Amino acid sequence: MSTYGTLFRVSTFGESHCPSIGAIIDGCPPGLELSAADIQVQMNRRRPGQSDLTTPRNEKDAVLLQSGIEHGVTLGTPIALIVRNEDQRPHDYSETDLYPRPSHADYTYLEKYGVKASSGGGRSSARETAAKRSSWIFIIVQTARVAAGAIAEKYLKLAHGIEIVAFVSGVGKVHIPVTAASVDEETDDAPEPLSEEFRTLLKNISRDEVDKHTTRCPHPDTAERMKQRILRAKEASDSIGGTVTCVIRNLPAGLGEPVFDKFEAKLAHAMLSIPATKGFEIGSGFRGAEVPGSKHNDPFVRRADGSLGTQTNWSGGVQGGITNREDVYFRVGFKPPATISQAQATAQYDGTPGTLAARGRHDPCVVPRAVPIVEAMASIVVMDLLLIQKSRQAAASLLPPITTLPVTMVMPPRPA
Ligand SMILES: Cc1cc2nc3c(=O)[nH]c(=O)nc-3n(C[C@H](O)[C@H](O)[C@H](O)COP(=O)(O)O)c2cc1C
Repeated sequence: MSTYGTLFRVSTFGESHCPSIGAIIDGCPPGLELSAADIQVQMNRRRPGQSDLTTPRNEKDAVLLQSGIEHGVTLGTPIALIVRNEDQRPHDYSETDLYPRPSHADYTYLEKYGVKASSGGGRSSARETAAKRSSWIFIIVQTARVAAGAIAEKYLKLAHGIEIVAFVSGVGKVHIPVTAASVDEETDDAPEPLSEEFRTLLKNISRDEVDKHTTRCPHPDTAERMKQRILRAKEASDSIGGTVTCVIRNLPAGLGEPVFDKFEAKLAHAMLSIPATKGFEIGSGFRGAEVPGSKHNDPFVRRADGSLGTQTNWSGGVQGGITNREDVYFRVGFKPPATISQAQATAQYDGTPGTLAARGRHDPCVVPRAVPIVEAMASIVVMDLLLIQKSRQAAASLLPPITTLPVTMVMPPRPA
């Protein structure tokens, strides 16, 4: 379905030939100061045409708020927003009417629905013909996510000081250095799963620093190598994949709903709903699978405020599917975009073998533009799980205090 969330619900609508596309966001608390400008900041970071590393298409993406807000304050009622489709041209015949693009969504949408939008891969697609309209369908889903995420993010920042920052951590084989060395198979002599340098980056990184480089990689040496890698793919009429890392800071403990709606399960679901994603890992992730428990456990320590914290954070801020107040960090893998202008041997819809060289403009690498989309989906997940936990706590707080439980069943008082 095109709806995500339980208490903070985001529904998106629109196809390529609609007069407008948009979203309805239900469950935003009343009393939040919100303007179109708050949303536009993130929309502008997602837009194409930002540098020579993204598609040169020029889309305006101007958000028009339709309901749920008066005098710049949310009313608690559904917030509807639209973005007008300024280029509703009739369908231009092209080679992708004959050929499903390899590894795009054209074929599966047609198999699933029996009909397909004239622009190819339905709501997931970004068909690259010469027409400016070509990218419209792709904007639909991404616009709505980014706009809804911006609303969630504003609440999270004001209510809890929660910060969400994503950045490009890999392009092809070029990565920000994350580990010092690999595990010795004989001795189990393992380095820490993530290097000190990378952990410091996660602690301090800001969006301003991320946006300093067109790749959105905040590690200057690596950023330059990534740029060259993307340009090489572009010159070869090819594309290249990459990874986005995201950190969520100042999260309260207790978010996440065991058993099926664990915090990391919700995050994984949200991240893997972004087009072109191929992988998700949290905390030490797949690196953690290589080290013994003695090197991977996060021992508890008393924090300055008397609460329990952990000395290390290989768990990535989540244990048992519930946040533990440490930073949550995770990584998302994106494939190389499917639409390439290099000729590929493939087959038409009717099975006739042939060659497809997609015309038009496309992203040689999606990760620089995926950064605000990852942040948006993370914001939506945190917002939904925060509202669920707050409603549980509010309901419990209405009951008379319990004094009969054994001391082992409750958190001991903190030292003064
Ligand atoms: C920010 C962003 C930009 C994208 N740009 C393109 C593009 O220019 N060309 C393309 O073929 N795919 C692009 N994609 C990926 C496709 O939308 C996606 O691969 C397609 O819908 C098929 O879905 P799947 O890869 O999830 O299976 C982009 C994805 C993202 C997140």
